[in-house]
Amino acid sequence: MGESRVVATAPSNIALIKYWGKRDGVAQWPANDSLSMTLSAARTETTAALLDAPHDELWIDGARIATDPRDKAHAHLARLRREVGLGAAPLRIESRNTFPSDCGVASSASGLAALTLAALGAWTDAGSLADLASRGFDTARLAALARLGSGSACRSLMGGYVLWQAGERPEAQSVRQLLAPAAFPLADVIVLLSRDKKLSPSTMAHKAAWTSPLFAPRLAGVPERLARVEAALRASDLSRLGEDIEAEALEMHAVMMTSAPQATYILPRTSEFIVWLRQARRRGDFEAYVTLDAGPNPHVLTRPEDAETVAARIRDAFGAQDLIVDLTGEGPTLTRNAT
Ligand code: DP6
Repeated sequence: MGESRVVATAPSNIALIKYWGKRDGVAQWPANDSLSMTLSAARTETTAALLDAPHDELWIDGARIATDPRDKAHAHLARLRREVGLGAAPLRIESRNTFPSDCGVASSASGLAALTLAALGAWTDAGSLADLASRGFDTARLAALARLGSGSACRSLMGGYVLWQAGERPEAQSVRQLLAPAAFPLADVIVLLSRDKKLSPSTMAHKAAWTSPLFAPRLAGVPERLARVEAALRASDLSRLGEDIEAEALEMHAVMMTSAPQATYILPRTSEFIVWLRQARRRGDFEAYVTLDAGPNPHVLTRPEDAETVAARIRDAFGAQDLIVDLTGEGPTLTRNAT
């Protein structure tokens, strides 16, 4: 039995160029390349210990998750066992988010990344990421495995700005860090307009993307937009970055809303917020740009030194009180604790 447990933490990430639509759902082969910023405070912490019991025990935010192959986390544990062939030692897994789950802060990205690290750490008796790499699980392999649980999870294996390339074949996908966090630190003011669970799971909605008449023109334009966003990041140029990331998020939501079946994640308040932010920016109140995940809650990107001013204006002038101020962050961690 394990006398110690492994503790993995993985950050959430916010996509600047979105992963939306898959060429293959089983191999998790995305329709296009995507680029994200890793967050700092919004993380999942997952512990894993070998368990003397017939089945895994899985706890998320203090609640036991019943063993069900349809559950994303249980399904991922089963998949990891098959993929890595390490035997079937059951695990006791406990997972906590530092932010509300399922509200447009990508909890599936950090959650599935942390689960991948914790389970592999427990099975291989690793005490650090370097140990895990020496046992055959380097960052590239970890990203490929995490991706099978949730596509965006592969971008949570690295800090700073991370590029996930689709490649010519499913096996030719790659994930790499474009820039370290210190190269261009940004703040992400997350405006929690709603903490309700989302209505359409994104895995289903990804499939419908191909039915939108806007999807083919979107895919045709992604490479150029990605090149502009990458150049703006390398030049630390928020003004050049901003217009593109807003257009990108709105284009993804236009695809979602014109697919069959359609998925509408935004709320009336989300639209009001976008209009308000653009007007404030035009007036010269501050410089900040909005992006969205598959949810109603705006992520407002701005310079770290302006984050408190932007947050105060969102509270006082727009009237949204529930905010998280986060920053560009580092990648995951893995340690071992005595139980
Ligand atoms: C809108 O990674 O949650 O956040 O691979 O089916 O688990 P699955 O989907 P998921 O999709 C995230 C989409 C997005 C954009 C992004 O993060 O790039």
